[in-house]
Amino acid sequence: MKRLAILGSTGSIGTSTLAVVESHPEEFAVVALAAGANMDRLAQQVRVFRPSFVSVTSEAAARALRERLDGAAVRVEIAWGTPGLVRAATHHEADLVVSAIVGGAGLVPTLAAVRAGKTVALANKESLVMAGELVMAAARATGARILPVDSEHSAVFQCLVSGGREGLRRVVLTASGGPFRSTPRSEFPRITPAQALRHPTWNMGRKITIDSATLMNKGLEVIEARWLFDLDVTQVDVIVHPQSIIHSLVEFVDGSILAQLGITDMRLPILYALRHPERGPSALPRLKLEEVASLTFEPVDREKFPCLTYAYRALEGGGTLPAVLNAANEVAVHQFLEGAIRFDQIADVIARTLDAHPTRPLTSVEDLLELDRGVRRSLNAVAAR
Ligand SMILES: NC(=O)c1ccc[n+]([C@@H]2O[C@H](COP(=O)([O-])OP(=O)(O)OC[C@H]3O[C@@H](n4cnc5c(N)ncnc54)[C@H](OP(=O)(O)O)[C@@H]3O)[C@@H](O)[C@H]2O)c1
Repeated sequence: MKRLAILGSTGSIGTSTLAVVESHPEEFAVVALAAGANMDRLAQQVRVFRPSFVSVTSEAAARALRERLDGAAVRVEIAWGTPGLVRAATHHEADLVVSAIVGGAGLVPTLAAVRAGKTVALANKESLVMAGELVMAAARATGARILPVDSEHSAVFQCLVSGGREGLRRVVLTASGGPFRSTPRSEFPRITPAQALRHPTWNMGRKITIDSATLMNKGLEVIEARWLFDLDVTQVDVIVHPQSIIHSLVEFVDGSILAQLGITDMRLPILYALRHPERGPSALPRLKLEEVASLTFEPVDREKFPCLTYAYRALEGGGTLPAVLNAANEVAVHQFLEGAIRFDQIADVIARTLDAHPTRPLTSVEDLLELDRGVRRSLNAVAAR
């Protein structure tokens, strides 16, 4: 029985993780949950999965959760804020921590879990984008394992079982191309949040869905892959594969290419990470290749989707630059969803912010968080004018 702490339990990855737990009650149990604002869903999860510890964002949210649990026969400690999140991430009973909070808010708890030597099933790519160097150094120091949840990185991880790091030439991350793959760039200024939230192949949280529409998600994944697999920037490529059946590929030095294929359902890579290093049966729907019929590939249109180029630029610049990219992207996506900027302006905000913040060496998480807050403050101040 593996005991799990799930950070971001009320989100898309969090609920898929709990669905996996529910399907395999003999393999997994939940000891801690952490969430943001959705107290109705969290209360329901506490009733069903019976964690002994829960963390929420504020004292008021903790009170709201307690009220919802009144009368339910559950014994659960409720904490809040960053200290609560860190306690969930380092819970003494947890064998594995699922890091599935969205955005930069995932960095501190992810790092706490790694520093505590926990095995981390990582969905929160933003923590590696912001501080990959620090997170991976902490993992080396404590021996913590970081297992990818992102379907692309899970695919690479699975392919690497066959060839090993030394024989690897490059990884190729596949991208669906998002909802605007065939939309002319001239129409980008008129794209609405509702249109951008309609992803053709994956059902995900709002932020990652917009990131998929701008292709920034693939850029963040390039940076994530660099750190997870200790690659040089030149060893990470991206190809558009609209069917999202091949989740990524690995090319070895002998010219062989391995790919991992599967349905577009995050429960599959989640199950792989939770069970690692074992494999076992599942009742998930099977991939029927005869129904897929064809698998197609095309290069990324970098003119149309400049965010991918900005991500490579941040990775090449190194130091604090990827954290600046991440903060700018989070603010811009939020502003777009609020109707404050146009879809095409997301890329402009990121480009301007990168220009305004020359890279500095990564010294500490505290410095990084200060920089992150500063970038967000200045972008929000510009928007408020
Ligand atoms: N969805 C996917 O298929 C997918 C695939 C690969 C990777 N990922 C990555 O996984 C992460 C989560 O994505 P998602 O799609 O699951 O996002 P989501 O549906 O928006 O869920 C985000 C979760 O984070 C919680 N949260 C947000 N801010 C928080 C804070 N300050 N403190 C504590 N909890 C907080 C939310 O709580 P409330 O809802 O209660 O506010 C929710 O549980 C992202 O990094 C994403 O890039 C997702």
